[in-house]
Amino acid sequence: MSERVYIFDTTLRDGEQAPGFSMTPQEKLEIGQALARLGVDVIESGFPIASPGDLAAVQLLAREIRGPVIAGLARANAKDVEAAWEGVRPAERPRIHTFIATSPIHMEVKLKMSPDEVVEAARAAIRLARQRCGDVEFSCEDASRSEIDFLCRVVEAAIAAGATVINLPDTVGYATPLEYGRLIRTVRERVPNADKAIFSVHCHDDLGLAVANSLAGVEAGARQVESTINGIGERAGNAALEEVVMALATRRDNYRLKTGIDATQIFPSSRLLAGITGVEVQPNKAIVGANAFAHEAGIHQHGVLSDPRTYEIMTPESVGVPTNRLVLGKHSGRHALVHALEQIGFVLNDEEIRRVFERFKALCDRKKRVEMGDLVALVQENFAAPPETYKLISFRVASASDEPPQASVRLEREGEVFVAEASGDGPVDALFAAIQGASRRTLSLVDYSLRAATGGSDALGEAICKLSDGQRTATGRGNSTDVIEASALAYVAAMNKLVHEPSAAAEIVSGGKPWQ
Ligand code: KIV
Ligand code: ZN
Repeated sequence: MSERVYIFDTTLRDGEQAPGFSMTPQEKLEIGQALARLGVDVIESGFPIASPGDLAAVQLLAREIRGPVIAGLARANAKDVEAAWEGVRPAERPRIHTFIATSPIHMEVKLKMSPDEVVEAARAAIRLARQRCGDVEFSCEDASRSEIDFLCRVVEAAIAAGATVINLPDTVGYATPLEYGRLIRTVRERVPNADKAIFSVHCHDDLGLAVANSLAGVEAGARQVESTINGIGERAGNAALEEVVMALATRRDNYRLKTGIDATQIFPSSRLLAGITGVEVQPNKAIVGANAFAHEAGIHQHGVLSDPRTYEIMTPESVGVPTNRLVLGKHSGRHALVHALEQIGFVLNDEEIRRVFERFKALCDRKKRVEMGDLVALVQENFAAPPETYKLISFRVASASDEPPQASVRLEREGEVFVAEASGDGPVDALFAAIQGASRRTLSLVDYSLRAATGGSDALGEAICKLSDGQRTATGRGNSTDVIEASALAYVAAMNKLVHEPSAAAEIVSGGKPWQ
């Protein structure tokens, strides 16, 4: 029987605090539910002291999610620990995760605390956390640049104070796999009460070594890996969950360890995150990138056709990437659509099915064959979609080589129709200016992207707009075989998010790391 490695997901905390990845509580809940379906052991759902929005999101996940442990982050002080407890308290299985830096540079320059004071702060925070909660994780921030004797002293004190999990992060992504493995092994060997805690790894990817370091830590005895979907996180990100999990699964002969992950949920979770944040993964990203299972070279194609094992070390199906030529058309009914969605790992509620089916029917009028990529795009458009406060009724855009593009828009808000016209540097610019005019709102476009969801000239264009109202940002997504319409839908979707969740979104954006 192989031993179990616990997967701790920090997409909603370390991942969410990276620029461009902020999420509303409702969006966090959708990701949390996907993480539960994926089978992660722990969901770090936020940093409650950071902002009321962060606290609200942690409480929401604690109330709604069953199965995984729900963790909340806290610095090693009473206020943070109480806030974390306030957040995770409603959970079926709550965890307080408290931390303090232990490297000389962090203690001297950032904390301005002596090593003795750091040990005392850690001890006090852990004791308080244990009075509130039976499951307490303690992290030595910047462990990989800490002095080994001091690190062992802090870890021993932390376990004696009641920490049940000890995390030794490579906070700045500085360690090499050999060094990091040695660090984990040394601490486990030298700390007398080490057997009373589970050791955890948390690696950042500044040198592209986060996954390699995490696996080296596991080989040295760590039994919890902290990671994020698509590897998102501070700066260059965290170790990618899908890479760690598939390395352990594909090379089980080497690691002889198992996780509780349902790997077929990896691709849907990755799509969900990209859909909600509007940040795509690079095409050559391992496991979940668009090219991860594509074979272009003739010699490779020949090999794969003869036997996929020639060039594939895992099957696309095993990570939930659908390969069957799933094709639907205008004669396909609701049941066929639901069945197709389930096949690619998307479990939607009735309201979501209603919306996706409506959009699917509209798409069938324009496109003969609706492919799997189209379906993924339609589902993504509906992730965490707020009510349609603004509805795009119609638009017209004129673009010519000898005069500036012109756009006119009809927009509905609460039964009233607003019309506006505008010109711009390009057709999309003119269109956005007209939507803004009709909405009577002043917004700025932070980011805009357009891509084809499938191949062919009738491919579904997928537009993503990130808007700001000066304090808050929101991301919207729109799909259409007409890229101008896709852009308009994305703009209106982002606008609806800003209108619908004003306070929560604002809090999250202004959150961040209070210790920096
Ligand atoms: O990278 C890090 O050290 C962290 C800790 C707060 C666990 O994210
Ligand atoms: Zn981190």
